[in-house]
Amino acid sequence: MAYRILLIHGPNLNLLGDREPAYYGNVKLEEINARMERLAGERGAEVRTLQSNSEGALIDAIHDARLWADGIVINPGAYTHYSYALRDALAAVRLPAVEVHLSNVHAREEFRRISVIAPVVTGTVAGLGWRGYVAALDALLGLLADRREGEGGQS
Ligand code: DQA
Repeated sequence: MAYRILLIHGPNLNLLGDREPAYYGNVKLEEINARMERLAGERGAEVRTLQSNSEGALIDAIHDARLWADGIVINPGAYTHYSYALRDALAAVRLPAVEVHLSNVHAREEFRRISVIAPVVTGTVAGLGWRGYVAALDALLGLLADRREGEGGQS
């Protein structure tokens, strides 16, 4: 069975391409989504994407993913740094998840160094621009395949 991945973009990421390109690059969100859908297709997987500026909509999508997704790639935007509600949602659904940041959050303001999301995800990618999403999807599909193999299941 093909893996199904939820790709979530949090607040302000709809402005990618225009927004502070020195940190976030020139590639638009639609282009990142298209690249991810292409990559997933090449790997026999499926990606569904969501961007929202609203915390509740992101939480609802994570809850809903419990019913259909095998894993999550998420850039929580600024919610990374303070949303315990988003963190609890990810912990509750217990899906493998990779946190992505376009910019190197560790090299910026102090408040960006804290992620309340990091303790409940499988791993984090930061500072690689749009390529971070590709790395995250590649790793997630690899981890899911390892897990299935470990369970003796077939793909
Ligand atoms: C971000 C980093 C966050 O600190 C910021 O609030 C964002 C984007 C990143 O992708 O580098 O909105 O998650």
